[in-house]
Amino acid sequence: MAASKEIEKRRTFGIISHPDAGKTTLTEKLLLFGGAIQTAGAVKSNKIKKTATSDFMEIEKQRGISVATSVMAFEYKDKQINILDTPGHKDFAEDTYRTLTAVDSVILVIDNANGVESQTEKLMEVCRMRNTPVIVFINKMDRFGKDPMDLLDEIESKLNINVRPLAWPIGDGDEFKGVYNIYKHELSLFQANKTKISEELVKFDDLSDPQLDEIIGEESAQELRDEVELVDGVYDDFNVEDYLAGKVAPVFFGSAVNNFGVRELLDAFIEISPSPKGRATDDGFVEPNDNKFSGFVFKIHANLDPNHRDRIAFLRIVSGKFERNTFYKHVRKGKKLKFPNPTSFMARDKSVVDEAFPGDVVGLYDTGNFKIGDTLTEGKDMNYVGIPSFSPELFQELRNDDPMKSKQLDKGIRQLMDEGVAQLFIQEPGSRKIVGTVGQLQFDVIAYRLKHEYGAKCSFTPLNFHKACWVTSDDPQQLEQFKKAKTGNIAKDKDDNLVFMAETPFLLEMAERDYPEITFHKTSEFKVSESN
Ligand code: G4P
Repeated sequence: MAASKEIEKRRTFGIISHPDAGKTTLTEKLLLFGGAIQTAGAVKSNKIKKTATSDFMEIEKQRGISVATSVMAFEYKDKQINILDTPGHKDFAEDTYRTLTAVDSVILVIDNANGVESQTEKLMEVCRMRNTPVIVFINKMDRFGKDPMDLLDEIESKLNINVRPLAWPIGDGDEFKGVYNIYKHELSLFQANKTKISEELVKFDDLSDPQLDEIIGEESAQELRDEVELVDGVYDDFNVEDYLAGKVAPVFFGSAVNNFGVRELLDAFIEISPSPKGRATDDGFVEPNDNKFSGFVFKIHANLDPNHRDRIAFLRIVSGKFERNTFYKHVRKGKKLKFPNPTSFMARDKSVVDEAFPGDVVGLYDTGNFKIGDTLTEGKDMNYVGIPSFSPELFQELRNDDPMKSKQLDKGIRQLMDEGVAQLFIQEPGSRKIVGTVGQLQFDVIAYRLKHEYGAKCSFTPLNFHKACWVTSDDPQQLEQFKKAKTGNIAKDKDDNLVFMAETPFLLEMAERDYPEITFHKTSEFKVSESN
């Protein structure tokens, strides 16, 4: 059994939220607790602030920052915690979806005034697909927000998950007095403190104790007793197994910017969150304590310097021990590669690592060998499955504006697709190139990078498609009929999978009705279910 101690101490997770709910602030506070940074403000937000979409330098700068903060590792109470950063900007949501394949659990941050917002719903759909365990942190309790019970109902109904509050807030906004930890029977009184960790926790063991009235006032004390009684009556007891199976999400309340509720969150996190889990391959399930090294690439980041086209491939280690300067097999290419400078990330510092274990993420310098989803092994021919592509939401035709540079354009667009910047569909017949993205910003990024990194000039013409669905069927005859009937709407993705491009939701529904033997997949995840 390889390094089971190392595996057991690791916790690899992601923080997800709708932009502005407080993800960056919470990340920073967790790093402060872990001693990985000393002062607040050390972690820069990697979100593309509300700048004009054409501010390319800003995009480039932000992309640079996000490399540095892609993985943040720190130690806390004998656990090694790896936080995988997820871009906040919605146009980069696809990046976030893929990062979620490399984590073992997530913390979901919700703004107490805004409740569940659109992007949270999408991100949670991805977590639901994978049964990822989720802890909810309701943030900004120092501001007036929605009623906590209403918030919990909203989370349950919109996010399709059961919740179990493990803490309960006393008031909010100016009236916010603190949080009672239902699980540990402790009361923490709120003190605004933005710059350093507040250690002053007031402990409280029994809610019926009259001292509670003295501390928070009779009215608040009675309210708290009533509400905690209600919570305990309404919600089932917290069951860790259900949390680990992704069936119930424990909920905490706090104020990240004030360091309040963060320690409780972190302590509960290390107590209940899962250690690194195995992953499915096209040749069976691989457990982390399998002593042969294996891992997969979930993210590729181009380097900032346009003169060097090297990139960093982020590899999540699933099993065994990864070692520097050791030959490993790049399964898709069938070739052996070794890595002299694998990088780990500690807050903002990068350093070369000699070895890494399941749950860790290492950055591998790459000159174009890797695509998102690639598997690296000690020799075995197997591929990790389940790095999904999602149906894009915007489609534009890619036009070559400089016929002398068509080779550069082809190479550039292929490499950008390997990095997962967007998805390319080739329409049949005619080989029209259609680029699909989840946000407008990607088209700007593609045109900019093609020009600056590959010397190619392109432009985009918007197309009126609503969705691209991967289609499969056990009935080859019906599939052929379908292809003939829908000639103008058929395309292939980069791996030659058949895709149906529907102009409207109605036309998609019609196709689903008219061709019952065909399955229309909204994500490329179908490849997982087929190979499982
Ligand atoms: P994000 O990464 O999820 O997009 O959110 P981020 O942490 O950047 O936080 C968004 C804004 O919310 C920031 O304010 C941040 O200071 C504020 N914030 C975070 N946690 C709390 C909290 O517990 N209470 C209150 N009242 N505010 C909170 P900003 O004005 O956009 O930026 P900044 O200039 O303060 O950094």
